[in-house]
Amino acid sequence: MNRKVTVIGSGHVGATAARGIADKELADVVLLDILEGVPQGKALDMLEACPIEGSDSHVLGTNDYADTAGSDIVVITAGLARKPGMSRDDLLMKNHAIIKSVTEQVVLHSPDCIIMPVTNPLDAMCQVVYRVSKFPRERVIGMAGVLDSARMRTFIASELNVSVENTHVFVLGGHGDTMVPLPRYSTVAGVPITELLDSKTIDRIVKRTASGGAEIVKLLGTGSAYYAPGSAIVEMVDAILKDKKKILPCAVFLQGEYGIHDLFVGVPVKLGSQGIEEIVKITLSAEEQAALLKSAAAVKELVDVLKV
Ligand code: NAI
Ligand code: 2OP
Repeated sequence: MNRKVTVIGSGHVGATAARGIADKELADVVLLDILEGVPQGKALDMLEACPIEGSDSHVLGTNDYADTAGSDIVVITAGLARKPGMSRDDLLMKNHAIIKSVTEQVVLHSPDCIIMPVTNPLDAMCQVVYRVSKFPRERVIGMAGVLDSARMRTFIASELNVSVENTHVFVLGGHGDTMVPLPRYSTVAGVPITELLDSKTIDRIVKRTASGGAEIVKLLGTGSAYYAPGSAIVEMVDAILKDKKKILPCAVFLQGEYGIHDLFVGVPVKLGSQGIEEIVKITLSAEEQAALLKSAAAVKELVDVLKV
């Protein structure tokens, strides 16, 4: 195996993604955390699963960035979850500090890598990674849209009793309440769902998609989703390492596209070995465009607090 993917943060999302990458034999995996023993223990456990999975990926757990040197992709899941009594802004400032120090280390050891931020608030943390790394925008790609789209695909497939494989969906915007699911561009075997479902059902699916993360948080009681987020990371890693030129919704630094300037927002992009190889432009109705700008404004509020 000559490809190397580092996952920073060996918590729920990081470990799930690392396992998926190793199981699919996409690359050797380095799992890094500040907790001593945890990344080492989880990585060894994953490595011992590889003979059963038929994978020759190597998995290493570590607390030392030297082990991450020369990574092709670095996925950042390190961070804190919101705790009782902690405001959204407190969390923002704390994760800002973590992401800043993690990014400095990543750049030092893997100057040519592609960085995939995952930590929330996603779009604002992407902006931190972009500013601190000084990487070209093609090499900072936030994960959120693939997850949000997967949730919407699940709900559509279940509503119409069809295979999830027949569904294609685009969810744009920031990763939060203001995200913009696009029913007009959501299809089942090529047919837009606007021709298959009534508007009340579509509204219900759109709302459930936008609150998909909160739905899981409420059920779990503590912590947030990790299986679907882990799979979303693996799909993006797969598209990049195999140079698939796959069009997926990702958080990218927009410089005028969709009328948005100097801000990370989710839009469709072509993913390949160079990272973002194209920002795909689709035509939006006035209503869809307004919703996207509103979502971008919500991201900008956080970015302004951070001054990044
Ligand atoms: P978790 O709490 O299970 O794991 C976080 C890990 O980060 C912990 O193991 C912790 O020790 C580690 N960590 C903290 N500071 C660190 C540092 N400076 N360096 C290295 N590691 C450090 O959390 P979970 O569930 O894995 O979620 C991780 C992040 O991903 C959260 O911010 C969460 O909100 C976000 N998330 C984002 C999604 C998206 O769609 N973008 C989807 C799901 C989660
Ligand atoms: C989610 O959407 C928490 O962002 C995370 O599940």
